[in-house]
Amino acid sequence: MTYQITIHPSGHTFIAENDETVLQAALRADFPLSYGCRNGACGTCKGKIIQGTVDFGRYDKDTLTEIEKLAGMALFCCATPLSEIIIECREISAIQHIKIKIMPCRVHKLERVSSNVMVISLKLPHSERLQFLSGQYIDILMKNGKRRSFSIANAPHNDEFLQLHVRNYPGGAFTEHAFTDMKEKDILRFEGPFGTFFLRENSDKPIIFVASGTGFAPIKSILEHKFYMINAQNDQRQIVLYWGARTKTDLYLAKLAGQWQEEHKNFTFIPVLSEALPTDNWEGRSGLVHQAVLEDFESLAGYQVYACGSSVMVKAARRDFINLRDLPENEFFSDTFTPSV
Ligand SMILES: Cc1cc2nc3c(=O)[nH]c(=O)nc-3n(C[C@H](O)[C@H](O)[C@H](O)COP(=O)(O)OP(=O)(O)OC[C@H]3O[C@@H](n4cnc5c(N)ncnc54)[C@H](O)[C@@H]3O)c2cc1C
Ligand code: FES
Repeated sequence: MTYQITIHPSGHTFIAENDETVLQAALRADFPLSYGCRNGACGTCKGKIIQGTVDFGRYDKDTLTEIEKLAGMALFCCATPLSEIIIECREISAIQHIKIKIMPCRVHKLERVSSNVMVISLKLPHSERLQFLSGQYIDILMKNGKRRSFSIANAPHNDEFLQLHVRNYPGGAFTEHAFTDMKEKDILRFEGPFGTFFLRENSDKPIIFVASGTGFAPIKSILEHKFYMINAQNDQRQIVLYWGARTKTDLYLAKLAGQWQEEHKNFTFIPVLSEALPTDNWEGRSGLVHQAVLEDFESLAGYQVYACGSSVMVKAARRDFINLRDLPENEFFSDTFTPSV
């Protein structure tokens, strides 16, 4: 069965084919909605069903509660229509003309930047480029049919190679391979770009970035692009980056962030360690990274926050910044590195 979907308030309509989720149909019809993980875990695609019925699909029960379902909410990356439906949500026109493609690529370089993190540079076929917005991610398509998402860490203006920052999960289907037998010149396939975690340029509010671990990757892409544009546009929006990790070596590109701070007077870098080792001789900030933001700001009412990394960090940041520091809900943007299902 095919069903018509109407977006409120824009009035845009499109058709969902057999078993297509609302998000898949919207992306195919070029009416992108806000989304992240595409597997019912992060909550970025949550919106309201104003009319009609859906199959809610498989999703994380903490991400969409029974109370929210009763109030008409659904996760559009999992929900498939069972009738014509009207949904309420914002459309994300910035990615409207960016084509999602499946492409081959070659592993150009593997750099182990810490015991836990591999930087993988991928080379696209000769004369091909991937159009993407800073902050978006790709899915590596594995030979066994599984896919794994990784944020693009380079900026679009510097796109000879796609850079990924891959954290090791012992026993992980993809990461164990990346840390043991992946070699330079290996051929991979990927699909992308995906996601709506990008810098909202239509605001002049100061920006707070909060990263945990390899959550630094998309923020690196956004910042490198922003610094490139600042040089071109003399834009002086204030930016603070809080980057949290366990130990000093887990802040695998701290030197680069420190260099940005020296080069850009509107940028501040605050590294935060939660489990510094005695050998780290750490004199910087300690504790949880989102707590450091709470300590530094009495109010976030006039800010935009971009948080990326572990689910625990992103959830805590969202909850506390909105409830305790008056951050407007629509000024919190996030990309959650949820495990694949
Ligand atoms: C939108 C998006 C962007 C992402 N970007 C990045 C990125 O730039 N860099 C990066 O390192 N990772 C990123 N991830 C996470 C990545 O996609 C994989 O989940 C991760 O690499 C593990 O894959 P795996 O096949 O090695 O492990 P799996 O075989 O999937 O899992 C192995 C074990 O590790 C646990 N595990 C797996 N992933 C996670 C996780 N994310 N958090 C907690 N436990 C986990 C599993 O529960 C399981 O016990 C992103 C995820 C999403 C949804
Ligand atoms: S829950 Fe739908 S995109 Fe993450």
